[in-house]
Amino acid sequence: MPRKAPPQRRGKPRGPTQARRRLSRQAPAIGDEFPGTVRDVAATGEGIVEHPGGQVCFVPGAWLGERGRFRITGRRGRAATGALVALEAPSPDRVSPPCPHHGHDDARCGGCPWQFMAYDAQLAAKEARLRQALERLGVAEAQAPIWAAPETLGYRNRARLRSDGERIGFLAAGSNRLAPIDDCPVLTARNRETLAALRAQLPEPAWRPRRRGPLTVLPIDDEQGPEAVTPNAPQAFRQGNSAQNTRMREWLAGSITDLAGRPAVELFAGSGNFTDVLAAGGCRPVLALDSAGDAIATLQTRGLPAVNTLALDLFTETAPVALETALASAELLVMDPPREGLRQLPAFIRRAPRLSAIRYISCDVATFARDLEALFDAGFHLDEVQPLDLFPHTPHLELLATLSRPA
Ligand SMILES: C[S@@+](CC[C@H](N)C(=O)[O-])C[C@H]1O[C@@H](n2cnc3c(N)ncnc32)[C@H](O)[C@@H]1O
Repeated sequence: MPRKAPPQRRGKPRGPTQARRRLSRQAPAIGDEFPGTVRDVAATGEGIVEHPGGQVCFVPGAWLGERGRFRITGRRGRAATGALVALEAPSPDRVSPPCPHHGHDDARCGGCPWQFMAYDAQLAAKEARLRQALERLGVAEAQAPIWAAPETLGYRNRARLRSDGERIGFLAAGSNRLAPIDDCPVLTARNRETLAALRAQLPEPAWRPRRRGPLTVLPIDDEQGPEAVTPNAPQAFRQGNSAQNTRMREWLAGSITDLAGRPAVELFAGSGNFTDVLAAGGCRPVLALDSAGDAIATLQTRGLPAVNTLALDLFTETAPVALETALASAELLVMDPPREGLRQLPAFIRRAPRLSAIRYISCDVATFARDLEALFDAGFHLDEVQPLDLFPHTPHLELLATLSRPA
């Protein structure tokens, strides 16, 4: 029998906002110019401006509170996309970007869309996004101050470069076009060396895309040098910021000190970045799952004590049934899903009557909030959400959440 606990949610989720209702008004024409003020920063990183006709417009390179002239450039669903034409009242937090390739047009690198803003302002925007989501659920008091990254440059331990055989770069913002670069200050020193070595190889006919095919992907990782780069090869998952990953692992270790000896299920375990923390913390037994067979094979070879592994697609309807036995005894659930979160979470939780603790690591505020609602319905309480900045100069936000269910 699932144990009952009063639902934590205090406020009802809001209905359609005024802005959303306004979206249905007549769309402005592409090329329309209009004055406006940025009223928010979207999860995608763009400024949100309202066209005088009422339509919401997403504008890259525009920040909260800024006033200026904007141009409609396209459509995104029922909203519009736009460009900044002239800035009349810039944010006091604008800074000169540390990378010469930063920009928001289709010739500029789209990798770090927030480089034009001071780091503190970036962090404040990330915290605000989480606060808004938690306020909608009535649990904003659970939010801890964000853990800033120790380094805002030189942190990125892996990347997917693109090449047309003549040039190397990243994709331009919101497009499949190549934005060539000669260096990238966000990469770790070893990755910058790899980039320089790859550039020295140009022109490289083997990297020319097939006719009308996509650009060639050159995956780089600072655990390997340029000789290991295999064009278009898939990359095994690895958290992209090593210093912040250490912090995430420490957070997990500190959050399970009273769970030694308890059975745990870990969903989306990859090759065991968090599994060895669970094993070292004394959780027994641990069942670690991921759909990536090669990642699970790597985890198996580590021979962690009392850790069992299984390659399983967790997004299928049958996954909760396949895990019935492990879920029946599990007291701790650890999950680190991709952006989609875990829509089928209620089906997993229904089969886990003894579950009293959850550690939810999320890379998407919206799906995290959706999954939280399901957990509240199942009697869980949100003890704390620790935001952490994994990728400075981007809108990405990582969340480390602690939930418990009273006995
Ligand atoms: C954010 S990563 C976390 C990996 C690991 N926890 C780590 O820190 O390295 C998400 C993981 O979800 C896995 N994944 C994606 N879709 C999945 C699915 N449908 N079923 C199971 N695992 C999936 C990926 O293979 C990846 O390892």
